[in-house]
Amino acid sequence: MAEKKIIAVVGATGAQGGGLARAILADPNGGFACRAITRDPNKDKAKALSGKGAEVVKADLDDVDSLKKAFAGAHGAYCVTNFWEHFSGEKEKAQAKNMAEAASAAGLKHVVWSTLEDTRKLMAANDTRMPILQEKYRVPHFDAKAEANAYFAGLPVTYLVASFYWDNLYAFGLGPKKGDDGVYRWAFPMGDKRLAGIAAEDIGKVAYGIFKAGPQHFGKTVGIVGENLTLDQMSEKLSKGLNIVVKYQAVEADAYRGFGFPGAEELGNMFQVYRDFEKEVVAARDVDVTRSLNPSVQTFDQWLVRNKSRISLA
Ligand SMILES: NC(=O)c1ccc[n+]([C@@H]2O[C@H](COP(=O)([O-])OP(=O)(O)OC[C@H]3O[C@@H](n4cnc5c(N)ncnc54)[C@H](OP(=O)(O)O)[C@@H]3O)[C@@H](O)[C@H]2O)c1
Repeated sequence: MAEKKIIAVVGATGAQGGGLARAILADPNGGFACRAITRDPNKDKAKALSGKGAEVVKADLDDVDSLKKAFAGAHGAYCVTNFWEHFSGEKEKAQAKNMAEAASAAGLKHVVWSTLEDTRKLMAANDTRMPILQEKYRVPHFDAKAEANAYFAGLPVTYLVASFYWDNLYAFGLGPKKGDDGVYRWAFPMGDKRLAGIAAEDIGKVAYGIFKAGPQHFGKTVGIVGENLTLDQMSEKLSKGLNIVVKYQAVEADAYRGFGFPGAEELGNMFQVYRDFEKEVVAARDVDVTRSLNPSVQTFDQWLVRNKSRISLA
């Protein structure tokens, strides 16, 4: 049998890269091998991947030499940054630049860069509907990733544009909270617009589909989504699926930005983009393309059945 093509998976201990690592490992005859990149090979999630057959390699996105070593000899790399660890658009760009430089040095045959759209292109520079953050961004974790596309441009790259993870309900504290009256409520500046959403695990499965398909996706942007749902639709599904009463409250974006939790301004701007530019955000993501690359892509209801036990709503 031909040698397996190694995919170096950044973020293999996280949601996106973890989904890809598990997809590679679940398909032993698929022709690919998983090299899981982590800063800490001794952490449980790294050990779990190693136990399933992944090669675990230590590297840090802030250290380009460590990335060059981690990418050497690989066929491809999955590149993702974690904005939420540092909240800095500039740092995300620096880390993306390091990955692109390492991918180039290793002569990789395929890179998948997990990016997002540049929300600044959706409104005029002097539009006052939302504040400018970090001096130059509307939604830093979107806009900085889009700016970083330029670092990858000379490579055989596929730009992967994901959607809001439904898993944010349990992993990011964004789920509905129980009131004294027993009703669960959640508030977003989403009006009655649809939120493009996806099961986090499905993102890596799509990435695996992209690596398998190869050159036809070079230079292409692939926008992925599981389902576009209004918050009322999601509330109804949660109510039914969890046997509770969930009510959505539409709030103004300014009010949400003022909620005061870390990242409230950032998320206020992001949800406002999802609301004010629903048509553009939805058009940038295609469920049929998603399904063609990951035939088992989940709907919200399917995701809910699988994740019921993880959603312990306070
Ligand atoms: N949440 C959403 O709805 C959503 C939607 C679309 C896009 N995104 C984007 O997804 C990104 C986060 O991806 P995720 O959800 O998969 O992350 P995650 O589950 O929080 O895990 C973060 C991963 O990044 C790795 N990592 C972070 N900093 C690193 C560094 N300096 N060097 C090496 N590895 C590093 C971590 O590895 P170790 O700790 O093991 O080193 C870990 O595997 C964010 O940038 C966000 O903007 C999120």
